[in-house]
Amino acid sequence: MKLIFATNNANKVKEFKSLVGDHLEIITLHEAGIDIDIPEPHDTLEANAREKSETIHKMTGTDCFAEDTGLEIDALNGAPGVLSARYAGEQKLASDNIVKVLQELNGVINRQAQFRTVISLILNDKEYQFEGVCRGTITTAVTGEKGFGYDPIFVPEGATKSFAEMDLGEKNKYSHRAKAFHQFAAFLNTIKA
Ligand code: IMP
Repeated sequence: MKLIFATNNANKVKEFKSLVGDHLEIITLHEAGIDIDIPEPHDTLEANAREKSETIHKMTGTDCFAEDTGLEIDALNGAPGVLSARYAGEQKLASDNIVKVLQELNGVINRQAQFRTVISLILNDKEYQFEGVCRGTITTAVTGEKGFGYDPIFVPEGATKSFAEMDLGEKNKYSHRAKAFHQFAAFLNTIKA
């Protein structure tokens, strides 16, 4: 099965490609010859994921999927959430976003948080959604240089180091994206069967 992955984020493509087996071929927007910045205008991850998959489906008429991810911090009532990419401004810089989160949690004892990923799949003109959640804690300082986004300040539950200190294979054991992907892959297997 071939599916277009409606994202321009090379890190997300890398993570998904590290999870897929032979049964699924992921075509990137670049490989599909599509060069657009897909809007994320809604106030939920679910609606933004759908916006992205529907945008590409309308353009191509091809089965495709998209995902939207947010970091939801308990002490900030779920912020930055759907605003995670542009939390510190429209420049969408991970380093600025991290500084803002660490400042807002300065002196805060409850550092519990979660990453949540919603995948929107459009298959045969129908939409399906899959969710993956990874609980963890926000560190007090940046640690590690791997990964992307908020990885240097997030330690998943059950681990003693941040996502940014993990190889991709290790991050996949815990991550929201891997959990959402496994549900998505299980669903695709039922379709094939
Ligand atoms: P979006 O899903 O592209 O809107 O991403 C939301 C924000 O969360 C961006 O700032 C990403 O860098 C960040 N983000 C998404 N996935 C991850 C992840 O797995 N680790 C750390 N940050 C992430």
